[in-house]
This record gives sequence, structure tokens and C-alpha cells, in this order.
Amino acid sequence: MNKTENRKDEHVQVAIEKDVSSDHNYWDDIKLVHNALPEIDKKNIDLSTKLFNKKLGAPIIIASMTGGYSKAKKINENLAIAAEKYQLGMGVGSQRAALEKNELKETYSVIKNYDIPLRFANIGASQLVIWGVEKTLENAQKMIDMINADVFIVCLNFLQEVVMPEGESNAKGVYNAIKQLAEDLDTPVVVKESGAGISYDVAKKLSKTKISGIDVGGLGGTSFSAIEHYRAQMINDKLH
Ligand SMILES: Cc1cc2nc3c(=O)[nH]c(=O)nc-3n(C[C@H](O)[C@H](O)[C@H](O)COP(=O)(O)O)c2cc1C
Repeated sequence: MNKTENRKDEHVQVAIEKDVSSDHNYWDDIKLVHNALPEIDKKNIDLSTKLFNKKLGAPIIIASMTGGYSKAKKINENLAIAAEKYQLGMGVGSQRAALEKNELKETYSVIKNYDIPLRFANIGASQLVIWGVEKTLENAQKMIDMINADVFIVCLNFLQEVVMPEGESNAKGVYNAIKQLAEDLDTPVVVKESGAGISYDVAKKLSKTKISGIDVGGLGGTSFSAIEHYRAQMINDKLH
């Protein structure tokens, strides 16, 4: 495995072994009031919903997580089996590795073998800055085709890139890069984050572009910056 493949493997290992959960989980703020008199037959409850004009069995999306090293194929395949069974949306992790190494494509494209109603392609926003407008559009289309994606996700990954020993932390020009991509791409673009959230101000700014949505699932739950923190320790990176 090369460095990128090792990193992907380490992300999964750290997520399994360490406590990488945010200090506050916002679900804890919600108390569901129990209805002891429901007057409903459970078998008539329909959880299905529509997102991006696709019918989902339940309002659940499997977040963008992995791909790009040999073991990830099995992980994505297992997630795809669940997505097919319950008709859920599913994302794959950043597809950059497959753009750089052709033989890694199948670690993502394996999900094409399953009947998944809504698929999300994925790239870190820092990559858009590095590629520039034309290359971004060309690569985005490649990533979409790789998994027959219905939606293209750009992950605002700068916090984790700063913590990551080999991170790419130049965010200058990222807003314009996202704005341009959303204008140029035929596939809808969604912006997400991975652990520290998207503030009101950032959401408001993004809403002025042609993006089709903001995924706020990144706040609470797993913090990717925490994953990078433990990974830096694991590989003995003294600066982090
Ligand atoms: C092992 C692992 C790898 C991840 N890789 C990516 C990724 O490549 N791209 C991305 O946008 N988010 C990635 N994420 C972040 C998730 O998509 C999600 O935003 C985050 O885990 C918060 O959701 P959760 O609390 O349900 O875990 C990854 C998360 C984990 C645990």
C-alpha cells in the first residue's frame, strides 16, 4: 500500500479503536415525548421519503466514508448491501485515490453492483483549490461516472487537513471553486463538513451559490479532526 492507502486504512482503524466522538451530541438535546395512546397500527407506518427525486425506504443516508485501499472494497460492499436492502442513500469516501491509481476504482465502483436509490460521489474541498476550475470539472465527472452518482458532495475538510500530518490546508479560493463547480456540473452539488459543523454564516454564504444542499450531519457524532489527531499520534507525528 502507498501512503494514501495506508492513511485510509488508519482512518477506519482509529474510528473503530478510539473515542472520536464530539464532546456534545445534539441528539441529546432532543427529548421525544412518549405517546402512550398511539392509536395507530405500526405496520401502516411508512418511513419512505423522496430526496433528489429518488425514493428512499427511510430518511437515512449512509455518510461518505471510505474507498481507496484494498480492504475498503469489502466495507463499501457491505454498506451497499445494507443500502440496497433498506433502500437508503449511500456515499463513498473521497475518490481522489482512484483518480490517481486506476486499480483502486473498484473499491468505490463496487457499489454499482447494488440497487441503491441515491448515490453520492465525494471529494475534499481542498482538492478543488489544487485542481483549478477545468480539472475540477473533469475530475468531478470522472468520480460521478465511477459510481453512477446522482449527487456530488464537496466536503469542507480544512480543519481535518490542518490536523492531518500531510494535510493540504490552502483554503484560498475555495468558495469560488465551489460556486463555479455548482454552475458547471449537471449533477447536483451538496456541501458537507466532517466533525465541526457548518455555521449559519457559512451556510448563508453557500446558499448564494447554485449548490443543491448542505449536509449538516457532520456536527455531533464522529469528528474527523479527532481521527486525524489520533492518527498523527499513531504515526508519531511530533508537530501535531
Ligand atoms: C472512517 C471514516 C472516513 C471518512 N471519510 C470521509 C471522506 O472521505 N469524505 C467525507 O466527506 N467524509 C468522510 N467522513 C466523515 C463522515 O462522512 C461524517 O461526516 C462524519 O463521520 C460524521 O458523521 P457520523 O457522526 O454519523 O459519523 C469519514 C468518517 C469516517 C468515520
